[in-house]
Amino acid sequence: MRAFHRLDALRQYRQGATRVAFVPTMGNLHEGHLALMRAAREHADTVIASVFVNRLQFGPGEDFERYPRTLRADSEKLAAAGVDALFAPEENDLYPEPQSCFVEPPDLQHLLEGEFRPGHFRGVATVVLKLFNCVQPQVALFGKKDYQQLMLIRLMTRQLALPIEIVGMETVRAPDGLALSSRNAYLSPAERAEAPRLYRTLRALKEAVLREGIQHSATLQQEARQTLDAQGWKTDYLAVRQQSDLRAPASATRKLVIVAAARLGATRLIDNLEIG
Ligand code: PAJ
Repeated sequence: MRAFHRLDALRQYRQGATRVAFVPTMGNLHEGHLALMRAAREHADTVIASVFVNRLQFGPGEDFERYPRTLRADSEKLAAAGVDALFAPEENDLYPEPQSCFVEPPDLQHLLEGEFRPGHFRGVATVVLKLFNCVQPQVALFGKKDYQQLMLIRLMTRQLALPIEIVGMETVRAPDGLALSSRNAYLSPAERAEAPRLYRTLRALKEAVLREGIQHSATLQQEARQTLDAQGWKTDYLAVRQQSDLRAPASATRKLVIVAAARLGATRLIDNLEIG
């Protein structure tokens, strides 16, 4: 596997590739990331991954400084997963001057995650567009674990006419159901044992909505939230929404998604589950 830390070297490599599939990450890679890498192989003859902890998408008081940086181990995992090239730019290579041009996503950016992480999706959209321009892929793969992120990237790609196919991949979970996440590394052993309750709660809520009907979803989601909070979680949001726009479901909506973010101790976990 080739590794590039500078944009000019990456661009030179890119010129020799025909069809590129791209997987952007912030590193500390786990099986969820690696599933994206392996799937990328089916879409192109050259697979490029990036590892870059993007300061722009972290708010003040979030975990930018302590976000786990494990580039050496990451690059071994990427090589083993058959990735052709890693782009791991230095911060001053991707942001040689303070970024003052941004991608401003639509109102969807202010819902749910956006309500609790103001500016987050602006930072994500901006770096993803920038990485797209560096790598110039034909295909890019993202996980459904970050449901709202995937929606916003699809929207940006469509509305800015980027010639890139966006592929969404299912969430990879530990055997006990916990969605794999780089942030799981922050959990104490006791918190790690408690953490699967988030996904169990989403599954139970899904069953309840299917059984009792979506007209009861507001009450049912309130009960689900209480289940978590009774076990010491601090739930930012836990909501049944429409897949199409992440707004509260109209009565005729069939395609729903339950989205949740909750804190266990100092660690914030997110997850989601589609219905229909
Ligand atoms: P990161 O959290 O490192 O995730 C990189 C990609 O892996 C994202 O598309 C994410 O949805 C996917 N992913 C993470 N955990 C997953 C899991 N358990 N199963 C399947 N896919 C999973 O998301 C980001 O980085 C950043 O916001 C980024 C897009 C790189 C922009 O900085």
